[in-house]
Amino acid sequence: MNMTLGKLGIDLLSPDFIANPYPYYDILRESSPILYDADWKLWFVSTYEDINTLLRDRRLGRDMEGAPKPDPQTPFGKLHHNSLMEKEPPDHTRLRGLVNKAFTPPRVEALRQRVTEIAHRLLDAVQPRGEMDLLADFAEPLPVMVIAELLGVPEDGRAFLRPWSHAIVAMYELSPTPEDEQKANQAVIEFSTYLQGLIDKRKFTPREDLISALVEVEEAGDRLSEAELIATCILMLNAGHEATVNAIANGMLAFFRHPEQFELLKRSPDLLKTAVEEILRYDTPLQLFRRWVREEMEYKGFRFETGLQLALLYAAGNRDPARFFDPHRFDITRQDNPHLGFGAGIHYCVGAPLARLEMQVAFQVLIERLPNLRLACETVEYRPNFVIRGLKALPVIC
Ligand code: HEM
Repeated sequence: MNMTLGKLGIDLLSPDFIANPYPYYDILRESSPILYDADWKLWFVSTYEDINTLLRDRRLGRDMEGAPKPDPQTPFGKLHHNSLMEKEPPDHTRLRGLVNKAFTPPRVEALRQRVTEIAHRLLDAVQPRGEMDLLADFAEPLPVMVIAELLGVPEDGRAFLRPWSHAIVAMYELSPTPEDEQKANQAVIEFSTYLQGLIDKRKFTPREDLISALVEVEEAGDRLSEAELIATCILMLNAGHEATVNAIANGMLAFFRHPEQFELLKRSPDLLKTAVEEILRYDTPLQLFRRWVREEMEYKGFRFETGLQLALLYAAGNRDPARFFDPHRFDITRQDNPHLGFGAGIHYCVGAPLARLEMQVAFQVLIERLPNLRLACETVEYRPNFVIRGLKALPVIC
């Protein structure tokens, strides 16, 4: 119990850890499944059962009174303050209810045709070259285009979404630097100004998009403030693609490393649904999320003091042998797979039905169009981020 992550020899920010955190999670889970690290000032939790239980415990939350937060006078601080993801009920319930309507399974299913068209269009552009960076040419633009269309961001504004989003989500890593903060503030200013222009246009000429729908709610009364409207649009645009990009690229890498599973999927495309769930379990795109201790509590003999944070390692829970049979095996036929890739409890991913659809379409179109796809390099490199973990590039031969 005195052991720290340091004493376990685990450096969460080292390239070696980020490239393959899974053996380290095994050590952590087996030796200290609930571990306080004084340097990080975090309780690390690594078993499936504990993460799944704690995510549903209302004494913990994404917000709490008196939590040290980014200065609300700064652009990033203001965004953070108005983001539904950083709220707890009743504000969380009110804001989440508004966006939830856009992501019901039937509404999302209606997008399948359009997502398929976008996927084909992207491959039309690169297939003749016989090679591509699957990340930059396919996994990135697909979810960006889908979420931009859904919200109603016109084509000429889309090139900025990715850099703005990258700068903002860097603040959710474990130890953002002052330079990260400065970049995030600048990105929030530019992103908000851009969205404000779009919102003003939609007020006069509404369209069939999510921005118009949210503008209508804002104008109807006090259920959505203008700052919340902008924060919600930014959250949807960022959360709506960051993880999906990595999920598609991680999934393809898993197939390259397990060619028999790729062959199986090509022979049996009806396995697409279970394959997508397995990708989210096996190489979880969002490795951890934090929760504040809002009320002092005892859990399995540990005392969580108010004001501290828990780091729930979803990706470690997803490889827990106590919950998943043969957890390090990539098995696209896996049936019993209630993974934590989308979290659990009240902050469970609101975009999960869309993310699933995008991934199913992405792999379906890839196996149909490029059945001989193979990796064009010996090793792959990861970006130096742990929370939103993903590849720098995925060069392939088509
Ligand atoms: C494979 C892709 C995706 C993964 C792995 C993923 C994962 C997650 C996870 C783990 C959470 C919970 C965070 C927590 O526990 O604190 C979350 C929340 C959220 N996700 Fe996703 N997500 C994905 C795609 C999407 C998409 C496509 C959208 C939007 C269209 C979206 C919107 C959101 C929002 C708004 C929240 C906050 C919900 C709340 O706080 O109530 N996500 N996501």
